Amino acid sequence: MNDKITIDDSLCTKCRVCAEICPNGIFRTETGLTTVRPERVQLCVSCGQCMAACPESAIQVDGLDYSRDFSDLPENDDADVHFDKLIRSRRSVRSFKDKPVPRDKLEQIVSAVTFSPPSFPPIKTALVVVQDKQMIRESLPYMVDLYDKLLKGLKHPVAKFFIKKEVGPYRMRTIQNHIIPMFSIKLPFMKDGTEDSITRNAPAMILFHADRNSENYRTDIYIALAYALLKAHSLGLGATAIDLIPPAIEKSPRLKILFRIPDQNEVVAAMILGYPKYKYRRAINRQLSSVTWIN
Ligand SMILES: Cc1cc2nc3c(=O)[nH]c(=O)nc-3n(C[C@H](O)[C@H](O)[C@H](O)COP(=O)(O)O)c2cc1C
Repeated sequence: MNDKITIDDSLCTKCRVCAEICPNGIFRTETGLTTVRPERVQLCVSCGQCMAACPESAIQVDGLDYSRDFSDLPENDDADVHFDKLIRSRRSVRSFKDKPVPRDKLEQIVSAVTFSPPSFPPIKTALVVVQDKQMIRESLPYMVDLYDKLLKGLKHPVAKFFIKKEVGPYRMRTIQNHIIPMFSIKLPFMKDGTEDSITRNAPAMILFHADRNSENYRTDIYIALAYALLKAHSLGLGATAIDLIPPAIEKSPRLKILFRIPDQNEVVAAMILGYPKYKYRRAINRQLSSVTWIN
């Protein structure tokens, strides 16, 4: 029984947008109806992508309400939109058109990153801009392999002890809460190549790395990443930060060579990008954990 997501069959046109846009592949349409895959519903993180993109407002995710949690988007989504419109219309894009990203757009993103504030100048952040889709495809099996090994390791108490020690409690929480449930379900599909939940068949990727001996580089990189995400969106591109990629590169000497990461550098963040296949019809309104005003 699934109480988390319901679909109004009288509204649904089986357009498949939800099935393609959901980060966890929770929807299926093969039966002629749009249905929820019961074995995947637990992976729903209420990101609201399905509800934001559904042309007919036919999907209901428990806890999200069309009138309360979503708002209209401006029609105009060209490069000059006001900042507020820009941030409201940005979403993580994981479905891309089969179209390369031109070099000049990538250069504009690189240029935007140079304006992100470094904690202590000079800028420590370095980028690898991958415009070669084939190279991204080639890297995927090595990334999948890391998560395969991680899952196997976590099943053995001794290996689990060392993994916990290596990653620390902060990252371990993400592993327990998200990575294990997701890969337990998806690994077989990722291993046989029918599903790519890491690089999402993206035509381009940007890696953010820095010398691991420099100060405050991780914080700087996350700010730089935010600039890059917004700049990509302002250029009509779609992008998503993918936290699954950096540890996979870190653990793979082969990927470090492939992506030309110097030995002393750590890959902190990764962003996939391309032209969005789908359009979001509404913005999602979210609440912060809390806001305390002190006057
Ligand atoms: C640092 C960071 C890491 C992320 N890593 C992943 C990832 O590994 N895989 C993924 O599909 N989405 C990833 N995301 C995207 C988030 O899931 C997404 O931002 C969130 O669900 C909110 O949705 P929105 O960006 O569409 O508003 C990441 C986002 C951030 C900021």
